[in-house]
Parts: sequence; structure tokens; C-alpha cells
Amino acid sequence: MASADNYFITTPIFYVNDVPHIGHAYTEVAADVLARWNRQNGKDAWLLTGTDEHGQKILRTSVANGVSPKEWADRLVAEAWKPLLETIDIANDDFIRTTDERHEVAVQKFLQHLKDTGFIYSGEYEGYYCVGCEEYKQPTDLLDGGEDFPGDKVCAIHTRPVEILKESNYFFRMSDFQQKLLDLYESQPDFIQPESVRNEIISFVKRGLDDLSISRASFDWGVKIPWDDSHVVYVWFDALLNYVTATGWGQDDAEFEKRWPAIHIVGKDIARFHAVIWPAMLMAAGLQPPRRVFGHGWLLVGGEKMSKSKLTGIAPHQITDVFGSDAFRFYFMSAISFGQDGSFSWEDLSARYQSELANGFGNLGSRVVAMISRYFDDTVPGANEMNDADAVIVDTVARAFQGANAAIDKLAIHDAIASIWTIVDALNLYITEQEPWVLAKEDADRARLETVLYTAVEGLRAIAVGLSPIMPDATQKLWSALGVGEALGNLRDQHLSRAGEWGQTPAGIRTSPLDALFPRIEE
Ligand code: ME8
Ligand code: MG
Repeated sequence: MASADNYFITTPIFYVNDVPHIGHAYTEVAADVLARWNRQNGKDAWLLTGTDEHGQKILRTSVANGVSPKEWADRLVAEAWKPLLETIDIANDDFIRTTDERHEVAVQKFLQHLKDTGFIYSGEYEGYYCVGCEEYKQPTDLLDGGEDFPGDKVCAIHTRPVEILKESNYFFRMSDFQQKLLDLYESQPDFIQPESVRNEIISFVKRGLDDLSISRASFDWGVKIPWDDSHVVYVWFDALLNYVTATGWGQDDAEFEKRWPAIHIVGKDIARFHAVIWPAMLMAAGLQPPRRVFGHGWLLVGGEKMSKSKLTGIAPHQITDVFGSDAFRFYFMSAISFGQDGSFSWEDLSARYQSELANGFGNLGSRVVAMISRYFDDTVPGANEMNDADAVIVDTVARAFQGANAAIDKLAIHDAIASIWTIVDALNLYITEQEPWVLAKEDADRARLETVLYTAVEGLRAIAVGLSPIMPDATQKLWSALGVGEALGNLRDQHLSRAGEWGQTPAGIRTSPLDALFPRIEE
């Protein structure tokens, strides 16, 4: 049983047939925000990501490029997938590759265990397979090839012909788990989220489960079946196991006990693998199912799912080169309700950058720091008697954190940001109404000016803490400029569960100049 403060969260491991686009980056950022939030709250948060390197899709790509699959994977991991994590500021704790020795050894051990306990048998597979999906397909999953592929059946997702397989394979007794899975969904209603994905999966499982072919003999790019090295493990069976092989299953029991079970953040395209096949595999091995499977929505371009195979991919650096990684993270996490689809457009991104980040948040920080400098020689004053307007800010801060913490527990990242953003809006209004620049003209208003600027700095302290999991870079700059770290310590150590308590900033701390957090972008 994992300890109470454990928070193990994962992304899918991505195929290395191509370079990442913003859809992959979206999943990474969501998981990273949740990990950072919980880590900052004192949890033992562990973020796992990595790459899926076996199977026909990768093999064919490497052949087409004239290199071995391992060379191809090494190149893509080094040149594209690991650099992605820098580009969008992901603080992952581990990166697993399915070609890692630690993974391959444990996959074999897992398979041997299922074989020994009677969950694997050999049989004949005859049916369709989509290499794009790396998935066995039912006739109901397919479309007619039409003009492009006359006479063929095509995958509804990839609109490419599927292949017809007739092979002797090893099978996993997945059909044994139909009722156990339905019981799991019933007893743990938040096991699959959001509700739309949950409903779809429940009706899929209710229709009945077939046993699953888990090996392939017609090519050899994969983990060898331990008792029959003429077969390699089916790429999804191999890939799903990364979540336990990365945390020590079969090799470091103490580590595994400490981490497992995980929260899986995936796109809804692969929720079924994670919420059906994966818990069935775990149950067969006598292990706990995951804690949650969250199937988020798709980033759409021109109304269609952005994808590598349809060449609609936008590279994350195209956005971060212009707007920076914080803006990337903020935009995708705030503009799309986590769980729903969302359309990406450069216009929307630019508009939100300008109004919310540059004018709303960045400007607020710059103005307050500049006023502390001008009116108080870089020293934050103490507050005096407080009035109703000040009380509104105190109250807004307290409520914002209650709301945000509750939202994160439900994985509602957009709601958490909206909740913290109430402080940004309230503080901008407060400054407009209190007019510190007018107060600064009269000595008689000095005490009031002190209170107003203390309130503004303390509000900014709260904003920096609340937004740091989303925008680690800008909030760190603000934290440093406020000089609050001298008294309160590192930004990343400020508990979000306590950040709503008023009055943490001590009077007398020294501020330093703050460059624009979100500079104007030239068209
Ligand atoms: O499926 N919008 O890898 P993959 C949002 N290797 N998210 C998107 C997206 C889009 N348009 N396109 C891709 C695989 N994604 C397997 C996973 S896990 C054990 C094995 C994201 O490279 C989203 O997270 O095809 C989706 O589920 C994932 O990339 C698919 O990545
Ligand atoms: Mg895919």
C-alpha cells in the first residue's frame, strides 16, 4: 500500500515514430502542473514520462529512414523527446524508454508470471490490425476504403488500409475480467474520468471482452516472449507495463510499494487501453489497479484532431520561441476545460497573452514593485488600519485557494487557475480604486498608502504561490523581485494549502526591479 503522501502521476509514453507536437506537450504540461501542485503541497509527488519504442510502426519508420530501429529511437529521444521537456519546463522525476534494460527484464518477468498462473495460452489470431493505432480491430471499427483505397477496409482513425493478420499468437485471458472491471468502475466512480469517457468504457466492457493477442511472430522488434523467442510481446502489452517497471516492480519491491498505484493522464484516444486492458493485466498479476485514469480531450486544428499522421502537428517550440514556456503552459491549461476538446488558434493565444498575461498579471506585478520603489525606497511598508476594500482582498485570497485546492483534487486544472485568477482581477480593481498615486501626494494619506501597498504586495505573494505550478518561470521572477523569499523561503516550498492565509509577507522586506514578465510581442 502506497503511503498517504504518495502522488504518482504519469503521462503516456509516446511513440518515437515522429517528433512531438503540441498535443503531446499538452498532456505533459497537465501532468506536470498536477505533480508540481502536489509536490508544493508537501506530497511525495513522482512524475513519470517516457517513450514507446517497439512495434511495427517504429520498425517501419526506421526502415524507411535507412537505420536500425534502436538507432532511430535513440536519435528521436535525444533530439526531440527529451528536449521537449526543457522546452515546456517539465519537472519529471523519471523518463522511461521501453528499450531500457530495466523495462525489458521486468516485462519478461511479468509475462512469465502470467503464464505460470494460467492467464496466457497459445491460439490462432485471424483479423484486422492497424499499425497506426498498433491495435487489433473489429469490423465495426473500420470504414470502406472508398476512392482512395478501393476494395480495402480502412481504420476509422488513420483512414489507411488495415492489415489482415493470420498468426499463431499467445493470448491473455482478458475475457475473465469483464465482471471484475465492471465492479471496479462501479465501486470507484472516479476511476475513469471524465464522465463521458467513463460511460463509453462501461458500455464497451458491457458488450463483452475477447481474449487479447499479446504476441507477434512476423517481425522481431520488441521484447522477446521469455518461453518462446520466436515471438515478441505485443507493443501495447509492453508499453502499459512501463508504469510499473519504472517504479521497481519485480526488481525493487520497496520502491514499487511506495509509489503504486498511479494516476494516469492520457488522451481519450487511449483511455480504453488504460482503463480496460491495463487493470485486467494488473488484476491477473494480483496487483492493485491504477488510482485513476483521466482521458483528456483533443487539441483540434481546423476542427480535426491534431496528429502526426495527418501532418497537422504544430511543434511546441514554434509557440514557446515567441511567447515563452509559461505562456504555453498557461494558455493550454486555462483556455481549455481539462477533459474537453479545444481548438487551437494563434489569434486566441495572442489575445489571451496580451489581455491576461501581459495586461492582467504582468503589469500588476510591475506597477506594484515600481510603486514600492518610488514611494518607499524599495522597502515594503506594514499595514495599518484596514477597511472594507482591503477586507475584500483578504477574503478573495482565502477563497481562491480553497477553490483551487478543491479543483486540483478533481483534476480540474482550468478551474484551479480561474480560482487563483480571481485574485489578479480583484487586485487590479483594488489598485484602480484605491489610487495609490493620489495617496502618495499627501503626507496625511501616508498611513493609507502603506496599507494599500502592503495589501498589494501580500496579494502578489499569494498570486506567485498559486500560479507557480502553472508558470514556474514568471512566478519565480516575481518572487525574487518582491524579496519575500528572505522571509518565507523558496517559492516551490510554499504550501498551496496554506497560501490563502493572510499576512505572511513581513513588513520591511526589500524589493528589487522587475522586468516585464510578459513582454510585448512584435507582430
Ligand atoms: O498512443 N490532442 O502514443 P502516441 C491532445 N505510445 N493530446 C494529444 C493529441 C491531440 N491532438 N495528439 C496526441 C501512444 N496527444 C502510445 C501510448 S502509453 C502506455 C502508450 C497525446 O505517441 C495524448 O496524450 O500516439 C494521446 O493520448 C497521446 O498523445 C498519444 O501519443
Ligand atoms: Mg497516436
